[in-house]
Amino acid sequence: MADLLQEMDEWGPEKVVCVSDVRTGMRGVLVIDNTARGSGKGGTRMSPTVTVAEIARLARVMTWKWAAVDLFHGGAKAGINADPSAPDKEQVVRAFARKLADQIPASYVAGLDMGMSEADAAIIQDELGDRGAAVGAPEALGGVPYDQLGVTGHGVAESVDAALLRQGRTIKGARIALQGFGAVGTAAARRLHELGAQIVALSTVDGSVHDPDGLDVPLWLATREELGDRCVTKAPPARRIAPGDELLVDCDVLVPAAGQDVIDERIAQNVKASLIVEGANLPTSATSRALLASRGITVVPDFIANAGGVIAAGFAMDARRSAFRPDPEAILRTVTDKSRANTVLVLDAAERTNVLPHDAALQLARDRVRTAMALRGRLPHHTPDREAATV
Ligand SMILES: NC(=O)c1ccc[n+]([C@@H]2O[C@H](COP(=O)([O-])OP(=O)(O)OC[C@H]3O[C@@H](n4cnc5c(N)ncnc54)[C@H](O)[C@@H]3O)[C@@H](O)[C@H]2O)c1
Repeated sequence: MADLLQEMDEWGPEKVVCVSDVRTGMRGVLVIDNTARGSGKGGTRMSPTVTVAEIARLARVMTWKWAAVDLFHGGAKAGINADPSAPDKEQVVRAFARKLADQIPASYVAGLDMGMSEADAAIIQDELGDRGAAVGAPEALGGVPYDQLGVTGHGVAESVDAALLRQGRTIKGARIALQGFGAVGTAAARRLHELGAQIVALSTVDGSVHDPDGLDVPLWLATREELGDRCVTKAPPARRIAPGDELLVDCDVLVPAAGQDVIDERIAQNVKASLIVEGANLPTSATSRALLASRGITVVPDFIANAGGVIAAGFAMDARRSAFRPDPEAILRTVTDKSRANTVLVLDAAERTNVLPHDAALQLARDRVRTAMALRGRLPHHTPDREAATV
């Protein structure tokens, strides 16, 4: 713990709770990072490699994400150090919920992240006898079906449209290359197609496909539904390209929607798109972003473009206490409105202050959290922000 104490800064974390259960071997941690704008909210991760430092870092990311999309929750995250494929998962999840019963749901609401499924959210609700204990529960229990609705990909597509419009361009006929054809990639492709864009390249871990005249999106979505990631093997040999080359094809917009760090310096030097909208988390590094900017390529940051899941989680937080099913249309409408507005806001701020969009987005989030801290009297005495808030 000494290390984490050193890492605490002016933002948080406000609270770190470690729990264990000898009978099941469960070891878990809850980090509440900053609640100036609302109660701490962020998913619960289960992995055999989870550490306190990792959960603290992710809790901080949530502080910025909620503030960047301007929703009133604070940053938090929880972790369970266990193998999610082990047969005793349910007992481990129950032990985690029980040991944190004094925190859940008063200070923290559990949610989905790597290794945790809808069924686990239902188990947490059951263990604590409270529907409010977790979001991410199955639709049959009143949960928001995030992936079925494709909230994240939908928001990514809206962000593409808003960014193009801001540049005086149109999405109709815009050529888009997509890396990753999973939850985010397929939902983005569906919405981009609806908006009139052409998908000229797509990929999965099993291969990459390219057609400069535009791929048949409904056909590819159906093939993905049937074959999963292997769908790309159905492409005629002439349409197959080398893995990773989907990032480099001739196109207007590149949407990375797979892994992190995929746009390294070599790729950044050779990308042909003039706009990159980050569907994946962390697909670019600070160095590659600087390189892209020097080539005149605009990058819409991940936590602005892929915030559809966070926005839907805002609905899920409210739905926990409601007798009514969440309204899918209202959720998608809000994802549309917020994704578009935030994209324009951040690109405008970046231009106005002459910084990269990632830095502008982070600054915007920090300003909002700092203002909330000042208004609540949480800043140290005699800081200019505190004095400004109290005059
Ligand atoms: N699902 C969400 O709501 C959500 C929200 C915010 C951010 N994200 C981020 O979006 C990204 C994708 O998440 P997802 O939920 O769609 O995952 P997923 O597992 O459903 O799909 C990932 C896709 O990427 C493909 N892929 C993996 N490695 C690849 C490679 N090297 N080359 C080409 N394709 C590759 C996979 O085959 C698959 O098609 C991740 O970075 C995730 O953190 C997801």
